[in-house]
Amino acid sequence: MMARHGLLSQRALLTAGALSTLLVLGTTAAAQDPGDLSKRGERVYGTSCATGYCHTLGGGSGGGAARLAARGFDLAHIQNAVTKGMPQTRMPAFGTLLPAEDLNAVIAYVASLNGIDAGATAAVATPARAPLSPAAERGRELLHAADRGYGRCATCHQVAGSGVPVADPIAQVPDSVPALRRLTTPDVATVTLAGDSMPGLVISPGAARTVFYDLTVAPPVLRTVPTAAIKVTEGSRWQHDRVLSHYTTVELEDVLTYLREAR
Ligand code: HEC
Repeated sequence: MMARHGLLSQRALLTAGALSTLLVLGTTAAAQDPGDLSKRGERVYGTSCATGYCHTLGGGSGGGAARLAARGFDLAHIQNAVTKGMPQTRMPAFGTLLPAEDLNAVIAYVASLNGIDAGATAAVATPARAPLSPAAERGRELLHAADRGYGRCATCHQVAGSGVPVADPIAQVPDSVPALRRLTTPDVATVTLAGDSMPGLVISPGAARTVFYDLTVAPPVLRTVPTAAIKVTEGSRWQHDRVLSHYTTVELEDVLTYLREAR
């Protein structure tokens, strides 16, 4: 458990791995001129990233957000951060904010600031998504459905760039609704604080402070507490099955279809 949630960057890396596989599999056929791509990326960067508050033009330091040039970032990391955002920071998920061409271009541009050839990024450009099947389309709506309140999956899961990433990105889609119902949640621990026990998903177990999601209520509450004040024991009585009660079996089948097609 600790290993999985030890560092935010580990969460990011997990996603990066999954994402790069996806990108390589779905490479677009249309070749883009690397020079054009990077130039377009620089333009997108100028308007979307180098705002007064965030990154600076050219990717140097000095803005409110991190320096981006010459950081030694690899392509998967850049793609992941730009597309999905960075949890617990103000970096948004541009995957849902920018058209695909602009997204690819800005990724290529930031890659070029890190010495990665724009040609290499053009070759693995984000594929245009295949249209969803009708069942998956219904599943997508159900997963985000506002009328389910905090019972909706998107309260705790981010899929294709939207929703709240309380849990790690879904790595394995269960084969069936019964399998989804049987899901165990080994990363949810029992956190005891001042004699009070609660189910908690530890995000960052620091020496001084521990950051965790308290899953007692939905939406889960992100808490930062002195590590010395809490006790974390493996396992909990929290049941994922209970959060599924906001959906019927037929609806959950559509949600699973969506999760499969969204990969
Ligand atoms: C209140 C929060 C919450 C809600 C709502 C929620 N989940 Fe989860 N889900 C979790 C947590 C936390 C985990 C991970 C637990 C772990 O890793 O131990 C998880 C894990 C999963 C996993 C396993 C992920 C993997 O990588 O193997 C799947 C699949 C999943 N949820 C699907 C769903 C679906 C579908 C819905 C909506 C019908 C949903 N969840 C609603 C909190 C939630």
